[in-house]
Amino acid sequence: MDINIELIREKLALKGIHGPSSNELRLYEDRLTRFFTREYQRYTDNPVSLPELGISTSEGPIMEDTDSLMEHHYDEDLNFFKSFLDTRYHAYSMAYYGESPVSIRKSDATLEEAQHAKFDLIARRAQIEGHERIFNIGCGFGSLESYLLKRFPKLEIVGITPSRVQVNYLRKRMNDPDDPLGSGRFTLIEGKFDQLPLNSSEQNSFNLVISVAVFEQVRNMSAALLKISDMLTPHGKTFHHFITSRRVIPQFLDPEKTRIGLYFPGGRAWPHDELARHTEHLDLIGHWFVNGLNYWRTLDEWHQRFWERVPYLYEHIFDSSAIAHWNNYFSLCKTVFAPMDGNFYGNSHYLFRARD
Ligand SMILES: C[S@@+](CC[C@H](N)C(=O)[O-])C[C@H]1O[C@@H](n2cnc3c(N)ncnc32)[C@H](O)[C@@H]1O
Repeated sequence: MDINIELIREKLALKGIHGPSSNELRLYEDRLTRFFTREYQRYTDNPVSLPELGISTSEGPIMEDTDSLMEHHYDEDLNFFKSFLDTRYHAYSMAYYGESPVSIRKSDATLEEAQHAKFDLIARRAQIEGHERIFNIGCGFGSLESYLLKRFPKLEIVGITPSRVQVNYLRKRMNDPDDPLGSGRFTLIEGKFDQLPLNSSEQNSFNLVISVAVFEQVRNMSAALLKISDMLTPHGKTFHHFITSRRVIPQFLDPEKTRIGLYFPGGRAWPHDELARHTEHLDLIGHWFVNGLNYWRTLDEWHQRFWERVPYLYEHIFDSSAIAHWNNYFSLCKTVFAPMDGNFYGNSHYLFRARD
């Protein structure tokens, strides 16, 4: 190994910053996993409901703290995201390795293959046929767009993100005619979905409104689904994929109470049943819980890739406290998905249809 890389790793270790394969971090993650296992068991044995906690998903702004979320997370240096995301899609959401804990653990898929499998699953569950006009809330680095535009030559997609870093990245790709994003079938809106005024090109004009890893930021589900229903054509559909818990975990619903708010200002982990309850404006067609070990594996792969690039990040972008901050992020996220074989904390999928 390069002497410089060795020195950087030693320097970080002296500051208590250890990589994902180290004994130090393994012990720390084991302790945290045991802590979350106890918490999940506590709320499985003594369930609490959102009304008991005074929490309503039909009140308040659709989303909140987006500016802070951009500043503290999504507008971090592009090289940081490139250091760990899959090289094929740059997807910043859970990859799909399998349905059961055994198949997830046994899978020999690469991160790139597992991200592709995630988009296959979403396309199937969202019932995408290939001729649709789609609106993608929170398009990130264009991962879903890259997958759909390549697979379906007639499909059109509009993506929205408030992230300056993501927009700059996407605009460069849109200028490349060989890139699916440069095909002329992708339109980018720089802005916040919750603040977006619906003009005639958005009103009742989408066959599908979709989001992947965004509803964690939604506070008022009722208002979000009402806005979405205004965008759909008659019989149009809407599909959402986001992190959920099987039962209510009170502290995960207050971004100020845990580190969720540190990494994702305004973010929450909603219980699986909550969005499915919101049938005021749309009919629910189906909902699914996706085992959380899928996210455990995704995060572990991200963590390993990040750690490989740490010497580069330390030399060019981050100081040691930023390295510690993000190194801890991967450990923390891994350990919330690990307990109970991934059956308690994972992702959910929801499909709704517009009424006549
Ligand atoms: C976890 S990333 C997921 C990105 C992408 N969907 C994927 O799976 O690769 C969440 C995305 O939501 C976007 N986002 C956050 N708040 C938003 C808001 N108020 N309006 C629109 N997008 C938002 C972020 O900028 C980011 O692109």
